[in-house]
Amino acid sequence: MPCKLPSSCNTVKPDLPTYLKSRCNIVDAALREFLPTAKTRPATIHDAMRYSVFAGGKRLRPILCMEAAEACGGKYEAALRPSAAVECIHTYSLIHDDLPCMDDDDLRRGQPTSHVKYGEGIAVLAGDALLTIAFEILADVKMSSRGRYNVADLVKELAVTAGSRHLVGGQVLDLEGEGEDVTLTPTELKYIHLSKTAALLTTSLRLGAMCANATPRKLEALTDFGTNLGLAFQIIDDILDVTQSSENLGKSAGKDAATDKSTYPALFGLEKSRAEAAKLTEKAHLALNPLGRKAKRLREIADYLLDRDY
Ligand code: IPE
Ligand code: IPE
Ligand code: MG
Ligand code: MG
Ligand code: MG
Repeated sequence: MPCKLPSSCNTVKPDLPTYLKSRCNIVDAALREFLPTAKTRPATIHDAMRYSVFAGGKRLRPILCMEAAEACGGKYEAALRPSAAVECIHTYSLIHDDLPCMDDDDLRRGQPTSHVKYGEGIAVLAGDALLTIAFEILADVKMSSRGRYNVADLVKELAVTAGSRHLVGGQVLDLEGEGEDVTLTPTELKYIHLSKTAALLTTSLRLGAMCANATPRKLEALTDFGTNLGLAFQIIDDILDVTQSSENLGKSAGKDAATDKSTYPALFGLEKSRAEAAKLTEKAHLALNPLGRKAKRLREIADYLLDRDY
């Protein structure tokens, strides 16, 4: 699936789709450079890694990473490595999320999932390899020795977010919250969404900001923005699972209800879920105030994500 343009968004400035597409191209070029070629031995694993990474995807996390660098007065080029790294972590999390022992999905980014194409063993290993290479890519980032942050700060940031207290932990609770005999409280559900999704979105922003030597105040503002945006993003993802077709999403729709997943629509209904996502997007906007006009694109992206249809 190529990088799709937002189609159902009426509130964004007309040039946002073109802008996002050009950012997708920058991210893809970086990923092509940083990932081993498909022929690198053993070819199967490198082919599988590239298959999932280049199947498509909105490239939201790398775009946020580059955007945060610019919003803090830096250049997006300084954030290319962390951008590629967060996309590798995200793609690994999708490959594992789709496994038969997890959400058991056959379709991802408009194509057969990794385990359908390569078998479960290679899919697990392709995920492992993408998780690992993210840190290899990040470790080579060039940071100014006079800046506030060093490479170890970036590595620690990504490791904590990808690990058992955030992304992996959220996936654990997501699995445990599945089935008709389990009903989560709103607080438990929010905690899952914050961990499995909002944490990586927030870290994507924070890594970009750190590459731009952001002040603690700006870093804090972006953390607040990412938390609210990330929560809204997962709520919309839950809503789209109910309202959209598999063809449009490029992944199996209706799966959450079929497996009795604890989601916002399941707990609160569609209307309240939409209202909550809109409220969180408002909060995300407010969080950006310390960044002033430099945060224009981040604001546009927040509105686009709320209105998206895939
Ligand atoms: C899907 O993320 C998984 C969630 C955390 C909701 P995206 O909707 O960003 O997936 P891609 O990268 O566009 O495929
Ligand atoms: C996935 O959440 C979150 C992670 C992969 C960390 P979902 O299970 O809702 O994502 P989709 O709907 O399969 O993309
Ligand atoms: Mg899942
Ligand atoms: Mg899933
Ligand atoms: Mg989902």
